[in-house]
Amino acid sequence: MSGEEGVTVGDALVLEVGPVAHGGHCVARHEGQVVFVRHTLPGEQVRAVVTEIGPGGRFLRADAVEVLVPAPGRVSPPCPWSGPGRCGGCDWQHVELDTQRELKAAVVLEQFTRLAGLDLVAHLGRPVVVEPVPGDQDGLGWRTRVEFAVDETGRPGLRRHRSHDIVPVGDCVIADRRVIGTGVLDRSFTGSAAVDVVAPSVGDTVVVPVPTGPVPLVRERVPLADGDLELGVSARGFWQVHPGAARTFVTTVLDWLAPRPGEKALDLYAGVGLFAAALARRVGPEGVVTAVENDPVATDNARDNLADLSDNLADLSGVEVVRDRVDRAVRRIVRAGGAVDLIVLDPPRTGAGRQVCRDIAGLRPRAIGYVACDPAALARDVGYLAEHGYVLRDLRVFDAFPMTHHLELVAVLDPRPNDVQHPIGASESPSV
Ligand SMILES: C[S@@+](CC[C@H](N)C(=O)[O-])C[C@H]1O[C@@H](n2cnc3c(N)ncnc32)[C@H](O)[C@@H]1O
Repeated sequence: MSGEEGVTVGDALVLEVGPVAHGGHCVARHEGQVVFVRHTLPGEQVRAVVTEIGPGGRFLRADAVEVLVPAPGRVSPPCPWSGPGRCGGCDWQHVELDTQRELKAAVVLEQFTRLAGLDLVAHLGRPVVVEPVPGDQDGLGWRTRVEFAVDETGRPGLRRHRSHDIVPVGDCVIADRRVIGTGVLDRSFTGSAAVDVVAPSVGDTVVVPVPTGPVPLVRERVPLADGDLELGVSARGFWQVHPGAARTFVTTVLDWLAPRPGEKALDLYAGVGLFAAALARRVGPEGVVTAVENDPVATDNARDNLADLSDNLADLSGVEVVRDRVDRAVRRIVRAGGAVDLIVLDPPRTGAGRQVCRDIAGLRPRAIGYVACDPAALARDVGYLAEHGYVLRDLRVFDAFPMTHHLELVAVLDPRPNDVQHPIGASESPSV
């Protein structure tokens, strides 16, 4: 395969590496053509091998295989299975932890400028700093949930970058030691496509071959200022993988939203009800919390978790779990003329999108807490919410996935002061 310039996959290029981009790579140019280069750092000169030619030859992808001029922040990777052509799980093993966080902050700034039209530093009046999740020491040993792929011989491993190939590994240094301690990497899982290993905060680590029979329920404890929450989660269901993440995100959201007794709140993309449970305790028996989640297993887990909470607190009759897509559920509330005081949303990587942003703004909450794992989707949605009168009040960025390019953002938005309310659907894009 070759690009417009005659470059072919496998060619070696000498590149001057430019800025970091979203996705774990940096941007370089070869004869004017954009090259997304992995395993490098801004400011380096590298010899890179072309791994892919983008559609229509619009860009190239390449792996740095030799560093000709290193940049400050380069370290020897703690994982021997990382690097060009090896395990694709981590992007920044070759980068010192503080530098990883600086790269992530640069990506967040760039995405907000490009997709929300917002200069975050000017808007927030301070630099954007990517914070470690409290308790994280060295960016290793944090991953409490790992899905290993299983090859045709039954051996577990991890996938090569942008490939279905499975790389056999003897360890995964970002995995919680309990995950590796199960001996999963020394076992054979013939007939399985994958094996999930989950090290919950309560109870034993579980090993779940996929496909499988019944999936066990694990228990997760979240220590909060007003007492621990304990939630049941299907071992294959969604839960934050960093052990300090759930507590950090809930605490940040509660601090910013400051829920009051008797208020009405929505927890959208609720999973097993983490934010709904925390909100329910704050709004109390006079309040109302509606959790919306479309996965049937997560919805059942959320109903059980919120029923347990209700039993413990005597009366939380205003807590409800709706199994539906968020766009449909919110539209129904809008059509019924509903209003809410607070909204928390924690969508998947794709974000909430234009219609959901418009509809939640139409419910006129006094604050919106937005938890996001993709800075591009969050920036885009902050732009949509601005079109409907909501302004970013604050933002924190957490390094919930050290050694990878991933991060988690928690944002709070308030109604713009003196905002004129636009009837929902009256105009698609009032000016920001
Ligand atoms: C990032 S997880 C957040 C879960 C939960 N808030 C937590 O912190 O544990 C996103 C959740 O949204 C659910 N989801 C994805 N798309 C959805 C949609 N369109 N409507 C409702 N739920 C959705 C997924 O099943 C998943 O549980």
